[in-house]
Amino acid sequence: MAHESLPQFETFRYNNIMIQLTDIQKNYDGPSGEIEILTGVSIPIPPKASIAITGPSGSGKSTLLRILAGLEPPTKGRVIVHNQNIYDLTDDDRATLRSQTFGFIFQSFRLFPALTVIENIQLSLDIKGTKNSDTIAHEWMENVGLAHRKDHLPETLSGGEQQRVAIARALATNPSVIVADEPTGNLDKKNSDGIQTMLQSCMEASNAALVLVTHDIELAKICDTQYELSNGQLLK
Ligand SMILES: Nc1ncnc2c1ncn2[C@@H]1O[C@H](COP(=O)(O)OP(=O)(O)OP(=O)(O)O)[C@@H](O)[C@H]1O
Ligand SMILES: [Mg+2]
Repeated sequence: MAHESLPQFETFRYNNIMIQLTDIQKNYDGPSGEIEILTGVSIPIPPKASIAITGPSGSGKSTLLRILAGLEPPTKGRVIVHNQNIYDLTDDDRATLRSQTFGFIFQSFRLFPALTVIENIQLSLDIKGTKNSDTIAHEWMENVGLAHRKDHLPETLSGGEQQRVAIARALATNPSVIVADEPTGNLDKKNSDGIQTMLQSCMEASNAALVLVTHDIELAKICDTQYELSNGQLLK
């Protein structure tokens, strides 16, 4: 294959990897002993899959996303990316893999407040070492309909507009998987509908898979597969 001569993680840029969560268990220390949050969660995430996870507050949805994206080790189980368990990697290698594999969208947007919105997008491209980051960032501002606001600070944009920037930032780096944790959780109905439409059209134009946590049943329906997390288990 032409990819064989590339450095170790370069192949992650080709968006065609399969990710597999296998028998993930997670316990936390509670005031009266260990609490089992996840008791054996397995999910295959094929390329371009779209997976919605719903479930009651406190059921472990955000915990599961953090484990998937290499941010928090499970108590037991494996997260296989490119045929290796990411928690067997060194911290540095896992951080490299994380930045090249995953794009994040959070409920609270998490844009850098001191940077303009276009600088927020450009920074994530620069961290990844992408060439022409200014041109790509500009294209993404256009893709999400905010080119006219590109030099503004995040706080001067509405919540819905900030989330459009966050979607652009997540997708601009061409990740294999978009991980979205309640991306409409802080928005009113109108903005939430706008984000749903934008996320859907951005995902259709992208090769990325989507793993989406939401309370919003309508938003969950943009995904091909819907799971509910309940009592530490994923139910279809
Ligand atoms: N670092 C931690 N230490 C101890 N307990 C934790 C920790 N992180 C999460 N928990 C607990 O794990 C459970 C699951 O939390 P998590 O944030 O994953 O839930 P969630 O399904 O995302 O909830 P929500 O819908 O409210 O966002 C909660 O009871 C939470 O208190
Ligand atoms: Mg949560």
